[in-house]
Amino acid sequence: MSDSNFINEINKRRTFAIISHPDAGKTTITEKLLLFGNAIQVAGSVKGRKNDKHATSDWMQMEKERGISVTSSVMQFPYSDRTVNLLDTPGHADFSEDTYRVLTAVDSCLMIIDGAKGVEERTIKLMDVCRLRDTPIIGFVNKMDREIREPVDLLDEIETVLGIAAAPITWPIGMGKAFKGVYHLVNDELHLFTPGQGNIIPDDKRIQGLNTDAARELLGLDWQAFADEVELVKGASHEFDLQAYLAGQQAPIFFGTAMSNFGVREMLNGFVEWAPAPLDRVAGGERIVAPSEPKFTGFVFKIQANMDPKHRDRIAFMRVCSGKYERGMKMRHARIGKDTRIADALTFLAGDRSAVEEAYPGDIIGLHNHGTIQIGDTFTQGEDLKFTGIPHFAPELFKRVRLRDPLKAKQLHKGLRQLAEEGATQVFFPVANGDVVLGAVGSLQFDVVAYRLKDEYGVEAIYEGVNVSTARWVDSTDAKQFAEFKRKYETNLAMDGGDHLTFLAASRVNLAMAQERYPEVNFRATREH
Ligand code: G4P
Repeated sequence: MSDSNFINEINKRRTFAIISHPDAGKTTITEKLLLFGNAIQVAGSVKGRKNDKHATSDWMQMEKERGISVTSSVMQFPYSDRTVNLLDTPGHADFSEDTYRVLTAVDSCLMIIDGAKGVEERTIKLMDVCRLRDTPIIGFVNKMDREIREPVDLLDEIETVLGIAAAPITWPIGMGKAFKGVYHLVNDELHLFTPGQGNIIPDDKRIQGLNTDAARELLGLDWQAFADEVELVKGASHEFDLQAYLAGQQAPIFFGTAMSNFGVREMLNGFVEWAPAPLDRVAGGERIVAPSEPKFTGFVFKIQANMDPKHRDRIAFMRVCSGKYERGMKMRHARIGKDTRIADALTFLAGDRSAVEEAYPGDIIGLHNHGTIQIGDTFTQGEDLKFTGIPHFAPELFKRVRLRDPLKAKQLHKGLRQLAEEGATQVFFPVANGDVVLGAVGSLQFDVVAYRLKDEYGVEAIYEGVNVSTARWVDSTDAKQFAEFKRKYETNLAMDGGDHLTFLAASRVNLAMAQERYPEVNFRATREH
């Protein structure tokens, strides 16, 4: 392949994730995007719809359909000359580090807001994460087929609560039962809503120009009021500024209804035109890796165990950062300094996982993991490189795990290590006794682990309270002081699932005391691999 083809392939890529509060419409909009990408024929065929709103059962339900839900971890589809990669953010109710790491693997995000509810709590948290890397955001205000809040108030809320300038691109013509469509403020085009086309690619009925007979006819007596509203909105809101969007300072905003598949096309068109192609990545210190570098690099941001119940395998999801993956190529697993030939990486064309022949920067490929790959690992073509910014967070909730059947200790350890490898929870093995302590960032994760231990490893686990309230990874360059620290605090020390020494403290005060006593020991709240 010539250089210009290679660059062309990179420039075609758009890799993004959807951020939203549960129930805002992420699943629904994902379906519609796949419909536009011709990845599915009829909406509703992607995954079983939820029939229970409770988060735990929602998760379990999904897990039961794992074979399907897995393919929705990463969805690749073509649209308008682009190759779009949509990365699913985990759906559980707790905000977890899983979600955070998925966001490190994308170049931009789509934010969905329920028009009736406005900016909700999870969206605020996810926006904070996006801000760490100035990720460009496109907003979609959903559920226009309902009586939602005043669109002007919603823009205002986005600006004040999320701290990002909002630039409306489309503007709704009415709402609820009186919803007629959207007006494209930049193109001066009206897009007309036809109900009942939610499961297909809807007709694209347009009127060019608001100041036309056709538009006057459509809006009837409401025309003048709408024209006045548009003038007002244009005057009072930000004009779209591509540079400000790319810098993560301004979000273009679209209105529509995902359920009726309206307004989604306009948003998707804006997305493929403006969203950034694969961006440079920092690999520690001075080293910045550009996607156009000829040599392959990539990093693992997610590991999922037993994705396909038939295969009982574990897949490491890798974002390609530079160069090109070709089937059968040799890659260097940088952390362990080992070269391996990769012949069976997977791609995730929506609805199906299949062997991938080639992949470009921005693409996600799946590697079969036999226990050697960890989250954060970098793969290269020889260079000793390490992409940064894919951390583990110290958990905040802890429980001791006990077995109903003590003979299953081996399976328990294996299960917990593998689940910890996925990054949803963390496991600690205290140095001084045979306990097993599970740590999580959110409480739902304990239920998930218990369920999966039983389902996948045949282990029944019981949780008990444990006198731990915070954890820190410890290391030091002062060998003498470190040895003394380890002696003194032996009962507080544990190895985590990746064999890193951890300090488990009963309280913040205990932690502060240890820190004061041993100033040469680093107590880290996050750990990079
Ligand atoms: P999520 O993945 O973000 O959690 O949201 P999801 O797409 O599952 O949507 C949550 C609920 O909102 C669903 O209703 C869905 O049908 C509804 N919804 C999504 N988009 C729109 C829209 O544009 N207008 C309206 N009125 N509703 C919308 P549900 O009752 O939970 O599920 P279902 O029985 O409809 O499948």
